[in-house]
Amino acid sequence: MTALVDLYDPDTYSAGVPHDVFTELRRTQPVFWQNVPDQLGYWAVLRHADVVHVSRNPNLFSAEAGGVVIEDLDPERLARMREMILSMDPPRHIAYRKPLAPEFRARVIAGLETQIRDITRQVLDDVRGRSDVEFVHEVVGGIPTQVIGKLFGLPEADWDLLHDLAERNTSGQDPDINPGEANEEAGSADSSMKMALYGMDFAADRRTMAPQGDLMDIILGSEFDGRFLTDADIGSMLVQMITAGNDTTVSMMAGGLLALMLHPGQLAEVSQDASLIPGAVEEILRWHNPLHYFRRTATEDTTIGDTSIAAGDKVAMYYTSANRDELVFDDPQRFDISRSPNPQLSFGIGEHFCLGVHLARLEGRVFFEELLGSFRSFELAGDPVRVRSNLNNGLKRLPVCLGS
Ligand code: HEM
Repeated sequence: MTALVDLYDPDTYSAGVPHDVFTELRRTQPVFWQNVPDQLGYWAVLRHADVVHVSRNPNLFSAEAGGVVIEDLDPERLARMREMILSMDPPRHIAYRKPLAPEFRARVIAGLETQIRDITRQVLDDVRGRSDVEFVHEVVGGIPTQVIGKLFGLPEADWDLLHDLAERNTSGQDPDINPGEANEEAGSADSSMKMALYGMDFAADRRTMAPQGDLMDIILGSEFDGRFLTDADIGSMLVQMITAGNDTTVSMMAGGLLALMLHPGQLAEVSQDASLIPGAVEEILRWHNPLHYFRRTATEDTTIGDTSIAAGDKVAMYYTSANRDELVFDDPQRFDISRSPNPQLSFGIGEHFCLGVHLARLEGRVFFEELLGSFRSFELAGDPVRVRSNLNNGLKRLPVCLGS
């Protein structure tokens, strides 16, 4: 069967996610072969149950063998990616996740609420009194880096630099965000390297200082897989944490406001009743999932549904499609903040389920509580512009008129 669309081409997503095509493919080719120019193509896994199957079988579908993005990486970059827990396989993955997991538990993260609220209020105070704002960069852009900065004890003077590197790191395909360096790869080698070097220096500095009572103390003092981390290891970990928690969270916030503005009845409802916010955040994550996919590599011949997969094949789990699977969600194209249950897969599932899930949900809830409590009305003041990416489901411009 001929392809209805090129799922790999970043321009496919420029005017919006082609949900009608995903719907048709789920019906006709739920495990869809996608060619890639000059490289081996990949299987796009589109059904919710199949994404769950791939995620839950890390020994059959490896994150480590080829990394988690579709592109073939050169050996040096693949080696660097394998130092991030996102791209480790068990048992090493478990040994690395274990010392971090207690610090990301719901109850521990709940202790950050006041700090997150203060950061959010400050950002909103900065635009109070103005009517037209570019919501991505002037409002939400800085929030996640500040939160992660506090969590890790990163110096406040460096937050802007780290935010900029994080944004470039996940938007390697967008020439506006990576001028001169944009290419067909989802990541940016240059900004990732700069951030890793920053992290190494930061780790070296912290070793000379007294404990600060933050996550960096835990990282410096814990054994990972039977050994303490080197400064270079910590550099890689910081790249992962800052990158993982930045654009995804920005996307949830900006994409969330856009979704609400496109559904004014629900915007009015949730503005009047803050108890609806947690459900709205889940629906925002389902409807505007921040990441389109993550990749695995089959370790042996197997099947997904009726499709034969050969050892070595690339497999991409499309959260974008799974979140609208009609076998799981009633009326899946409808945005509905009261949807329950809502088993959206935007944080993945299984072995690599997002470590920052409680932090992301807390940031989302606090952000919408403060935003909706601070302004009377929200209107689109121009066309939203999407990041050019086949991985990142993000906005780079969202002009909004705020009524106070
Ligand atoms: C809305 C915001 C976020 C979304 C949509 C998101 C999404 C994801 C997804 C899809 C995965 C991979 C799941 C898999 O491979 O099965 C993941 C893993 C991860 N996320 Fe998040 N994430 C978000 C926020 C955060 C935050 C705030 C942090 C923390 C600083 C974070 C840290 C991580 C880490 C460390 C992993 C790797 C976990 C592992 O491999 O065991 N994420 N995230």
